[in-house]
Amino acid sequence: MIVGFFKTSWRVLLLFLAFLALAWWQDVLVFGVPEGLDGSKALYFYTLQVGLYLLGAGLLIKVLDVFLWGGLVAARLGGPAPKLLKSSSSAVVYVLAVTAILAFVFGQPVTGFFTASGVLAAIIGLALQDVIKDVFSGIAINLDAPFRIGDWIKVHIEEIDDLHPGKVLEINWRTTRVLTEDNNEVVLPNRLLSEKVVTNFARPNDKTRQETTLVLEHEIPLDRARRILQAAAIAATEVEGFVKGSIPEVFISGTDDGGIEYTIRYWFHPWVGLSPGDAKDRINTFAIDYLLKAGLIPMARNEVLVRQWDAELDSLAEPDPRLMLSRVELFEDLSTEAISILASRALLKSFSAEEDLITSGEQGSSMFILVEGILHVFVTINDEDVKVAQLTPGMFFGEMSMLTGEPRSATIRANTDSSVLEISKDAIDAVFDQEPLVAEQITRVVAARRLKTSMASNADRSKATEDDVENLTAQLMGKVRRFFGK
Ligand code: CMP
Repeated sequence: MIVGFFKTSWRVLLLFLAFLALAWWQDVLVFGVPEGLDGSKALYFYTLQVGLYLLGAGLLIKVLDVFLWGGLVAARLGGPAPKLLKSSSSAVVYVLAVTAILAFVFGQPVTGFFTASGVLAAIIGLALQDVIKDVFSGIAINLDAPFRIGDWIKVHIEEIDDLHPGKVLEINWRTTRVLTEDNNEVVLPNRLLSEKVVTNFARPNDKTRQETTLVLEHEIPLDRARRILQAAAIAATEVEGFVKGSIPEVFISGTDDGGIEYTIRYWFHPWVGLSPGDAKDRINTFAIDYLLKAGLIPMARNEVLVRQWDAELDSLAEPDPRLMLSRVELFEDLSTEAISILASRALLKSFSAEEDLITSGEQGSSMFILVEGILHVFVTINDEDVKVAQLTPGMFFGEMSMLTGEPRSATIRANTDSSVLEISKDAIDAVFDQEPLVAEQITRVVAARRLKTSMASNADRSKATEDDVENLTAQLMGKVRRFFGK
């Protein structure tokens, strides 16, 4: 730090020492100019003395910059001291230096000067009340540091109730610039920030909790609604930006004639590329998507309201298999007739979290569609259960054994309370007769999953190419046709 000081201040220091030596030598250290000195000599004396004060002030500012602001304060704040503080302290030192010059060099009564300037300052002060408030609030914000550059904050201003949370870009003398999540730069006068309530999402630590609400029909059973929303929230929060390991909560927060209000509460890191709005959007998107996959659709009302599509209200308690199957990507091109065949033979089954739906190595002759919840796929590699995939609503599983007659290739375990539709080999067989392409589509997924599992077993992190998938699909199709006797 001392080396740094000499590096940045050696010129001022050298000049100051030169002036000091000169003043010493000329005996001018007694301030003021002796009576009867002629003009040029007096000017020389005054210059020396004024120079000494100004250089002294300059040196003091450098000392404060390096040791106080750059050393002590920076260490306490854990970052560089705000510019505003440095410039205020420099201004104070210069005002003191000028006062001292007036008093000691020119022998002027300083009280008179202060009274005169006090009256002037009062007039200016009245005129610039708001600006001065801004500046002092700015200093207070810098000292107090209720938020720092880079923090996400929300200012609660009644007049601007649509002011979105924003990231602090700069804290100036008079204003603070904030970049809102809708990508607008908002300039807030500092006085407003010291008067209004400010939420700082970055304090006390790097996590923040937020919630979103959805209103669902009264007729949807509470545990069904919870199950769907819980699975959606878990899947939505699995990306970077949400707090790892914190399980979102789903609870009922109100009820009225319009329906039952559910709140989803979740934790996230607001500055890791995820604004509070982005986080809420992701949770809402997943919630609506999972409700759709479970056969429920949002209605256009003031709030997001959800009801069963194309069905009597009292059937909201159970998912409609027809609706569910038509939402599965695999069956989306099937005729209504084929969907009805599958639906009439499909069986709805529920499982609790941690329960196994399928056990690796066992025989099985049906496939399943996940309607609600989240499932994990485990394969045994070197005597250890390794999770190779996660299944979310709308996905199917168990198709490998059903198509080929081989034992189950993996264990499927419920991660949350889940419900599935079971489709037997016979039902699928009837559909294959009508729509032979479906067999090929399912077989293609089987091929892709097999390749993924075998790569996981070999600790191979690369992805299977399209050619690999096509080749394996062609091989498997022969097996499927034989198994189905086609
Ligand atoms: P099946 O072998 O009948 O029973 C276990 C099921 O786990 C299997 O069918 C597939 O549906 C599923 N499965 C196996 N490996 C994967 C994978 N890598 N990704 C997704 N699902 C898989």
